[in-house]
Amino acid sequence: MTYREDVEGIDASILMHPKVWEASGHVENFTDPMIDCKQCKSRYRLDVLGDQINEKKKKKAVEALKENNAGLVSKIDSILAGPDESENFENLLTDDELGSKLLPELNCPQCGNKGTFTAARKFNLMFKTFIGPVEDSGSVVYLRPETAQGIFVNFLNVQSASRQKLPFGIAQIGKAFRNEINTKNFLFRTREFEQMEMQFFVKPADDKKWFDYWKEERINWYKSLGMSGDKLRFHDHPENKLAHYAKEATDIEYLFPFGWGEMEGIHNRTNFDLSKHEEYSGKSLKFFDEEAKEKYLPFIIESSAGASRSFMAFLLDAYYEEEVKGENRSVLKFHPKLAPIKAAILPLVNKDGMPEIAREIEKDLRRNFKVFYDEKGAVGRRYRRQDEIGTPYCITVDTQTLEDKTVTVRDRDSMEQERIPIDKLSEYLAKKLID
Ligand code: GAP
Repeated sequence: MTYREDVEGIDASILMHPKVWEASGHVENFTDPMIDCKQCKSRYRLDVLGDQINEKKKKKAVEALKENNAGLVSKIDSILAGPDESENFENLLTDDELGSKLLPELNCPQCGNKGTFTAARKFNLMFKTFIGPVEDSGSVVYLRPETAQGIFVNFLNVQSASRQKLPFGIAQIGKAFRNEINTKNFLFRTREFEQMEMQFFVKPADDKKWFDYWKEERINWYKSLGMSGDKLRFHDHPENKLAHYAKEATDIEYLFPFGWGEMEGIHNRTNFDLSKHEEYSGKSLKFFDEEAKEKYLPFIIESSAGASRSFMAFLLDAYYEEEVKGENRSVLKFHPKLAPIKAAILPLVNKDGMPEIAREIEKDLRRNFKVFYDEKGAVGRRYRRQDEIGTPYCITVDTQTLEDKTVTVRDRDSMEQERIPIDKLSEYLAKKLID
């Protein structure tokens, strides 16, 4: 965001007026279909129940479904022939007509009993709390389930303060909260997570052009930070699965150890949100186009990334175990821009003035870079410790430093070392981190 002149940043509220969530459709539509096991009281999201049932049992249940519903066999077969095999069972379960017939054929993944599921019910994912001392329906507020709405309601404030013209974007990073029924896969599905969202406001006629632009731009962002291209893909949403606000949508997915999973959604939200906020607030959110001399609601192209999910994907993608000269090393090959520590400064030995020089280097570099000083243990072990946390460069003060004021800089991935004058270190690191 900070590298672009056409995107502004904000930090909107977590608690907003409850009408914001009525206007956005979240009170009515932000629901997951939920079922309970009557026997053991376990609760599941209907659309992901299939993930917890093995293939053999699913096949058996589908056979029973066909046997008991001869008239629906062609419908069942056409759903099972869907383009994405991994979604076919979910599509059967969430089909209005077939879901209720398939459920009695399934065993509860927790207690193993068959035919114990309740019918599906809608469960709203927003966390509720109350403003003020009285806990009644008039004082309900919601913890934001997405950062996006804070951008929409502030759209004209930001536009007029920054004097941006269309097309331009507003971005923010911040916490979002969802009362997920089944959290799972470490950071993949949590109830509190970090989103990085950007809403790009465009002329309505240009929506397709900008949707395609942001699709490419966003997948290239992951690649530019070193993520393996063969573990990235788009998953376009079919029309019948679009969110209530979207005209076109695609996910950027990563191949996690548990399968393909969404890291980011790119949506054409049209002028749905702005028109709803106008309607509910009674205030115009129209943009005045000076060139065309007309007022209109822009269309919005959204890129909505999970910071926690993409963090997990970068972490997994960077992890390697390697054999080096007969020894194993674990290494996180983070792109230097992502590495939490950019360089470690290590005196070769703890004497001869080396620690003092190393401390001076650390003090100097710390003004611009996150660095780490370590003098404990053999230098080889210190290198390994830095490899494990993904530090791209290790700067070592050795005997030659005492003679010519140069140090070695070891590259984490190639493990090669080069000698650099101490007074050129800052420039050296800056270049490596920008490239
Ligand atoms: N403003 C649109 C929006 O919020 P979303 O697809 O519901 O769209 C966007 O969420 C991103 O937020 C997802 O791609 C994912 O990375 C992240 N996300 C959503 N729910 C999450 C959860 N329960 N835990 C962690 N990340 C989540």
